[in-house]
Amino acid sequence: MKKDEFYHEPVLLKECLEFLDLKGDGVYVDCTLGGGGHSFEILKRLGEKGRLFAFDRDPVAIAFASERLRDFESLVTFYPFPFSEIGEKLRPESLDGALYDLGMSSRQVDDPKRGFSFSADFSVDLRMNQSQGEDAQEFLRRVKLEDLALAFSKNSDLERSYKLAGALLEKVEQLGEDLMPQDFKEVVVSVYPHKTRELNGLLARVYQAIRMEINEELKEIEKSLNSVVKCLKKNGRLLVISYHSVEDRCVKNTMSSYEKACICPVKQPVCLCGANHKTIQKVLRKPLLPSFDEIEKNPRARSAKLRVYQKL
Ligand SMILES: C[S@@+](CC[C@H](N)C(=O)[O-])C[C@H]1O[C@@H](n2cnc3c(N)ncnc32)[C@H](O)[C@@H]1O
Repeated sequence: MKKDEFYHEPVLLKECLEFLDLKGDGVYVDCTLGGGGHSFEILKRLGEKGRLFAFDRDPVAIAFASERLRDFESLVTFYPFPFSEIGEKLRPESLDGALYDLGMSSRQVDDPKRGFSFSADFSVDLRMNQSQGEDAQEFLRRVKLEDLALAFSKNSDLERSYKLAGALLEKVEQLGEDLMPQDFKEVVVSVYPHKTRELNGLLARVYQAIRMEINEELKEIEKSLNSVVKCLKKNGRLLVISYHSVEDRCVKNTMSSYEKACICPVKQPVCLCGANHKTIQKVLRKPLLPSFDEIEKNPRARSAKLRVYQKL
């Protein structure tokens, strides 16, 4: 790929290819196509009977990746939909493997027009699909103080969440127009005057909390994982890369219900369910992290965690 075509550097690529345990005639889903970095390498390893389904809710990603993957057009089907719709689009027990590489692509974050930047002259947007749903501005104009404060504490572990929510909503009212990155900065500096050296980290967490609300990110993950478990064949692999603790906790909690043999209520003294309900097992006891080498080459990989499961 030429440099000006750069979209996103795939994270933990070698590890994903290894743990997907690819078969030439296997059927796979890339739930987060992005720039097609993982998909490209999966497709290279498929034979003519193999198949890849590729989801992304961002039409810009689908357009870019479908061009990049043109040589494999007989093997790949694109789905420009949120991955929560997997259960409606794919058949039960049809997949040998599924991959989620959660969060944002570098292209989404770096393109100033997408409204994820801290410094651009564009208003803050934070939608993964700019042609659908409520953007950050509409969200801030309608959200209640308590709900915004809760979003800051639960999505980003931000301290002083009430003060922050109050200051941001006051700014919205004062300005009466769209908030620019500079307005967010002023609010963050006013709420955390003792932490100005951590300004970018704090801003990232403020954006993340709002982004997770407007894109309903945790609901998406939970619904999609519940569907994908049904879509996997016996021995099918499920790989999830997450980038922050709230995302990772959501993956871990959703999957843990499938790892339990007994589903009786906790208070029940004896098991009456037969204790044969375990449908998923961990392939890796602990999540896999990127190597120092990878982090050095691609600093955006630094917070990545890969969890690997297998259907029983
Ligand atoms: C980290 S990037 C994936 C990069 C990709 N693995 C690559 O190698 O180029 C995450 C992608 O997932 C997409 N995405 C995030 N949440 C989604 C959801 N709920 N449904 C569908 N796509 C989603 C984003 O639009 C973004 O393009």
